[in-house]
Amino acid sequence: MSKRHLLHFAFCLAFLSAHAIAATPENESGKEIYGPCAACHGDLGQGGKRGEYPRLAGQRAAYIEYTLKKFRSRERINIPMFPYTQERELPDADIKAVAAYLAGIELPTKMPEFKPSDDALARLKAMEKVLIIPKLEGDLANGKRLYQEECAYCHGVDGRGKTRFPMLVGQYTNYLQKQIAAYLKGERPHDKVADDEDEEDDKTKPKAVKLGVLNRLTEKDIQDILAYITRLQDE
Ligand code: HEC
Ligand code: HEC
Repeated sequence: MSKRHLLHFAFCLAFLSAHAIAATPENESGKEIYGPCAACHGDLGQGGKRGEYPRLAGQRAAYIEYTLKKFRSRERINIPMFPYTQERELPDADIKAVAAYLAGIELPTKMPEFKPSDDALARLKAMEKVLIIPKLEGDLANGKRLYQEECAYCHGVDGRGKTRFPMLVGQYTNYLQKQIAAYLKGERPHDKVADDEDEEDDKTKPKAVKLGVLNRLTEKDIQDILAYITRLQDE
């Protein structure tokens, strides 16, 4: 093992014990691949500029992989990320590793409780990881009903997503609003993918789930759903 590798290895060990992320080889290379991404998405994948750069920590690995491939093929347009997602920069193996790394980062939504023995640095480090999305105003009862009827089937009852359906809870509200606007303008496909593929013969799919769910909601409904999602992070 070269000196550089040894150093990297030692650093990863320190990092892994501090962050309690499963010590798989994928996560070690994933952290390295993530390096240049941190300039925009933050050291812990917490996002930046209040949601102009979305949170990636804790996002579903399958969704991150799928999305990076969409950026690379330019099916989903993302100008700032263009240089980072070209074939040479981001081969499939790297996409897999960085997705696994990001999916494994946990950012608590509550301030930690400290022991008197915790020093200032330990406190600072623990507090840096906390990510609390500001609450949004709205009719929470309406938001809850609509979310659970129209969105939970794909995005999960708890908003944490599943398989390739992205986590919505803990994501910046203005980023989610921007994506909804893009879906409504037809710039990004929303639930179509779900129907194209494996979901087709899913007998558990409730009848109420039809394609184009976002197009059937009023602006107020969307606001209420997003307000409810900002409450789900506490649960
Ligand atoms: C120059 C800034 C910048 C850099 C560097 C950057 N990104 Fe991004 N990224 C963005 C922006 C802006 C968006 C949101 C695009 C939009 O609004 O649709 C984004 C979106 C994403 C998304 C989609 C999130 C979602 O919920 O759909 C993923 C995944 C992602 N970036 C991963 C990465 C990875 C991995 C890297 C490093 C290889 C990286 N980004 C580097 C700016 C950046
Ligand atoms: C049939 C499955 C399905 C249902 C139901 C569904 N979604 Fe989605 N949603 C998806 C898929 C798939 C994506 C990723 C699409 C893509 O970018 O290709 C997505 C992405 C999103 C995103 C963007 C997330 C990100 O990180 O960029 C938002 C916001 C969203 N959905 C909101 C909603 C809301 C609100 C509802 C309920 C009114 C809803 N969705 C119902 C399948 C679904």
